[in-house]
Amino acid sequence: PYPIYEHIRTREPVHYNPILQAWMVFGYEQAQAMLKNSNASSRRAELLAKKVPAAVRDKAKTFTQTANDMLLFLDPPEHRRKRHLTARPFSMRMVRRLEPTIRDMVDKALKRIADQGRFDMVHDLALPLPLGVIGAMLGVPESDRHTLKTFSEAMSLMVNHPKPSAEMVVQGSEGMEALFAYFRDLIAERRRQPQSDLISEWIKVEEQGDLLSAQEVLVNGCLLLFAGHETTTNLLGTGLYNLLRHGEQLQRLREEPNLIESAVEEMLRFESPVQMVTRIARADFVASGKQINRGDPIFVVLGSANRDRRHFNDPERFDITRRDSRHLAFGYGEHFCLGSGLARLEAKIVFEQLLEFFPSLSLAADQMEWKPDIMNRGLLSLPIAFET
Ligand code: HEM
Repeated sequence: PYPIYEHIRTREPVHYNPILQAWMVFGYEQAQAMLKNSNASSRRAELLAKKVPAAVRDKAKTFTQTANDMLLFLDPPEHRRKRHLTARPFSMRMVRRLEPTIRDMVDKALKRIADQGRFDMVHDLALPLPLGVIGAMLGVPESDRHTLKTFSEAMSLMVNHPKPSAEMVVQGSEGMEALFAYFRDLIAERRRQPQSDLISEWIKVEEQGDLLSAQEVLVNGCLLLFAGHETTTNLLGTGLYNLLRHGEQLQRLREEPNLIESAVEEMLRFESPVQMVTRIARADFVASGKQINRGDPIFVVLGSANRDRRHFNDPERFDITRRDSRHLAFGYGEHFCLGSGLARLEAKIVFEQLLEFFPSLSLAADQMEWKPDIMNRGLLSLPIAFET
């Protein structure tokens, strides 16, 4: 998509797309301004309702009504209050406590792979790991994690597809209802017997003064699963792909392992897992000289902003030593990703351990298949050959 982004960005950083019937913000500065603009509202669940086929609109209602309670779909001041309560137990301290668990999960996966001589980065590591980590953090037993994945993928397909079919809507809504039923039981169990997991911590916040309602605890569980797994999967897959495509960068990282953190930032900038975030205009306003009307959908194209040459030096170059990487891959402003610390830690551990474990890694296919999705950038599979 990048040459198209650039073509439009240099001419019209804020552009109306007649096919999507939406505004698209391509420039870095313009993306930051839009994400800070209080007229660009996150109360966008209705955008989903609009794209749903009429015959199944009722089915999607449960979803859109519930989405209205999710942080991602709220505006200040309600958003700020709920975000604070949700984020309090989901702190960097909690994330750091997960580090040994993540290392152990990666180690086990690599040992399994080592016996095979070849592996698929997406299927063998990038897909199961983020789900396992979120599951462990929330307190979902290992045996149930696969089921949750199926439900949350059905939801994701419905939300991210520009024109979901009736079948996708039915499956997505049913997925959400099944997730709810699952979390309801888990919450009831943790109420009886708290553990050291996020669900138990949220319950404490709720019981301390009813600040976070029982419904919000439930919705938060689904949100984390929904927001945190596919995104991290995509980062791990495209991150390794870009390292292998730029062999000199991989070599440099092997020689200077302390570049790992800036390498992860470059992976996020260069191939942003969330290519676009949506907003809806809540009033008429002007942005970069364009008249935006109340109700207009707005797509802020993070993947384009992150390659804007007015902000980054030589942006088409993948450079793990880059120092100007103040990218927008985790968003900007009020909704800045709540899981950024966790995602960064997971990626750091995965690439550290992968390079340590395999002295030689290479792509085992010439052509990669990308997901057919304009919102999320990720590979469907990534076959890798190695020597141990
Ligand atoms: C929000 C990206 C991983 C939880 C966001 C947003 C972006 C993003 C762009 C802002 C959306 C908007 O403004 O509309 C990513 C990327 C990830 C990642 C690229 C991985 C590489 C995670 C993980 C979790 C998580 C691991 C949790 C387990 C959330 C939550 C929000 C959010 C809860 C909503 C925050 C709010 O609305 O206040 N993420 N994310 N994310 N992310 Fe992430």
